[in-house]
Amino acid sequence: MTNLSLFPDLVVDCPPTEGIKYAGSKLRLLPYILQLTHKVKPTTVLDGFAGTTRVSQALAKSGYRVIANDVAVWSRVFGLCYLKNKRERNYYQELIDHLNALPGNDGWFTEHYGGSPNDGASSKTNGLKKPFQIHNTRKLDAIREEIDRMNLDEIEKAVLLTSLILALDQVDSTLGHYASYLNDWSPRSYNTFKLTVPMIFTSEQEHQVWQGNIFDLLDHVHVDLAYFDPPYGSNNEKMPPSRVRYAAYYHLWTTVCLNDRPKLFGKAMRRADSSDMLAASVFEEFRQNDAGKFIATEAIRTLIARTNARYILLSYSSGGRATAQELDNILSEAGRVIEFVQVDYKRNVMANMRWTHEWVRENERENFEYLFLLEK
Ligand SMILES: C[S@@+](CC[C@H](N)C(=O)[O-])C[C@H]1O[C@@H](n2cnc3c(N)ncnc32)[C@H](O)[C@@H]1O
Repeated sequence: MTNLSLFPDLVVDCPPTEGIKYAGSKLRLLPYILQLTHKVKPTTVLDGFAGTTRVSQALAKSGYRVIANDVAVWSRVFGLCYLKNKRERNYYQELIDHLNALPGNDGWFTEHYGGSPNDGASSKTNGLKKPFQIHNTRKLDAIREEIDRMNLDEIEKAVLLTSLILALDQVDSTLGHYASYLNDWSPRSYNTFKLTVPMIFTSEQEHQVWQGNIFDLLDHVHVDLAYFDPPYGSNNEKMPPSRVRYAAYYHLWTTVCLNDRPKLFGKAMRRADSSDMLAASVFEEFRQNDAGKFIATEAIRTLIARTNARYILLSYSSGGRATAQELDNILSEAGRVIEFVQVDYKRNVMANMRWTHEWVRENERENFEYLFLLEK
């Protein structure tokens, strides 16, 4: 039988990390992820769906050599900032002061995403709800233009863009994503953002940062441990759009990174290339393939089979397309599940353990996060 154990002795000190509000961020799971990582004593760890890079940051600060990958450009920018930077914080302060001192101007971001607070509490401007107040988009326009004008290398630019995104994340009028905006201005949106130097650090290890579909990377990467935190799809048959669609949710961060003035569509003014037709991830799929199998679940099966790593640590949520039972089956095809952890997010404590493979579907309606540690 699979050896499953709980963590009565969770003692891991979790290094501080930094990141934006992000659906599925693993901030609260970091102590468990680190504890499981320490257990298998890897040298090199792949963070295959790095998102905010909080997991990569924690792994790098814990002394591991990290390969961070995500399909999203904002994640690459965070990765370059936190994993590749070799300069001290002081170096960036002057650049940040320069950007903070710029007078705002009416540019592309203001035109599309800036709303006026003059119409009372409503965030509607010209009939559309907006994610930021105009005093902040005017600053955004000035700063973003200036970042392109400055003669920066890739890492410097990533540090400044990370600073800009972190600051904007503090003054948004959203529920934490940019697929729709609040009716009334959030209290925070009245504040004026100010850039600060991100919580950068330097490590002795040479980390790597990739931006791409994980399936394009797998053949080129050999690691001791692969950590996978894919999108969860949705197990809500009637409301498939309830799944998280990263490209659609965070389109604005793509545009801040690229500053490419894309074609926009819809009430939230999303980038045309963030539509479900163009940008959906196979892991976000809610449909079945011709053989009657869920596409998202099959993608996980392929992912596990194709990964060149002695150990795989898989994160998944109870609200996701695949059930814990299915994941257990998929993992058991590829090796031996040596640890299983179930965290109850609502109570934020360790939930019960199972000593058999008989998963109870009822429990899966609650909000659990699963961690499976597989030895291949
Ligand atoms: C659950 S989030 C990861 C969160 C991350 N662990 C954190 O703590 O911030 C899933 C991530 O997978 C990325 N993603 C989706 N499909 C992908 C693919 N095919 N290859 C690589 N990354 C993908 C999304 O951009 C998203 O950032």
